[in-house]
Amino acid sequence: MEIRKVGVVGCGLMGSGIAQVCAQSGFETVVREVSQELLDKGLARIEGFLAKDVAKGKLTTQAKDAALGLLKPTVALEPLAECQIVIEAIVENLDAKRELFSTLDAICPPETIFASNTSSLTIIEMATATRRPDRFAGLHFFNPVPVMKLVEVIRSIATSDATIATLKEFGTALGKTVIEAKDTPGFIVNRLLVPYLLDAVRMLEAGIATREDIDAGMRLGCGHPMGPLTLLDFVGLDTTYYIANIMFEEFKDPRFAPPPLLKRMVLAGHLGRKSGRGFYEYER
Ligand code: CAA
Ligand code: NAD
Repeated sequence: MEIRKVGVVGCGLMGSGIAQVCAQSGFETVVREVSQELLDKGLARIEGFLAKDVAKGKLTTQAKDAALGLLKPTVALEPLAECQIVIEAIVENLDAKRELFSTLDAICPPETIFASNTSSLTIIEMATATRRPDRFAGLHFFNPVPVMKLVEVIRSIATSDATIATLKEFGTALGKTVIEAKDTPGFIVNRLLVPYLLDAVRMLEAGIATREDIDAGMRLGCGHPMGPLTLLDFVGLDTTYYIANIMFEEFKDPRFAPPPLLKRMVLAGHLGRKSGRGFYEYER
């Protein structure tokens, strides 16, 4: 299937990055948020990153304007009917995603491919909210999307070979390296990453070391670009908490259980960079 127009639902941390990369790769991109305010916030983030790249000489003003011109922001769902693929990047919650996909199923033509950017939810459980489980798969990007070179394609037990082939081709057209995984929570990367991040919280909770020393340990000792607590703030503590609960629910393995400190920080609204405070403090 030839993809000309892409839909992205959600213009938060991930949706804005996915929409930016799609537009920069030459795809007309409809991007939908629930309110004009949130849409404007997401678009401002995209414009900011593109402007930074122009200032650094990495992007021409014409290329920036061309990308912005390909973005079609909306708070309506109907414009998504014109897209060959719709990528969902809303909150990590099964009920919210099922409700969205069920609504989209009634709006979009049957051939439209639906893809979820979920970090941990089971793909088939979302696909069954639609009448197109064969044209439904996971398409999992990494944060920050314009920088990270990977995308995971997840095949559910119902996804067709044609859908997987189209998604692999699409991921490559976005300039990403595509890896494929089965439909198990966390797929490849988060299955390994999430227990490590949760262990870092447990280490802090147990008073084994300071936040700075835990982060410096993994940055300088293992060459990671960010220490685990900085990375947690970057991903979002709320999103990580949802992911941990979903993975624990599936595997019943204590490695995936959210540590009490993480839960309390989320309850306190300390969500990381997005709220100005997580394991560290940020200017907003
Ligand atoms: N959008 C676009 N570009 C961005 C960006 C963003 N959100 N954030 C940073 N960049 C760009 C910068 O403009 C900069 O570009 P230049 O090299 O051209 O100057 C480049 O990325 C490097 O940024 P900085 O110099 O500001 O900072 P840095 O060297 O510390 O790199 C980083 C920042 C790329 C985020 C790096 O710290 C990193 O790779 N961190 C780890 C990120 C990671 O592990 N992501 C995966 C999270 S898990 C996930 O995504 C899955 C899930 O389901 C939860
Ligand atoms: P976020 O909170 O930054 O953004 C989610 C956005 O979706 C919000 O702006 C919200 O208003 C919007 N939204 C909610 N319902 C909507 C609807 N029906 N239509 C349109 N917009 C809607 O969250 P995020 O970090 O961007 O995560 C989004 C998804 O991507 C989650 O499934 C998450 O697990 C996954 N993910 C996150 C990361 C990460 O590092 N944060 C990485 C990979 C995947």
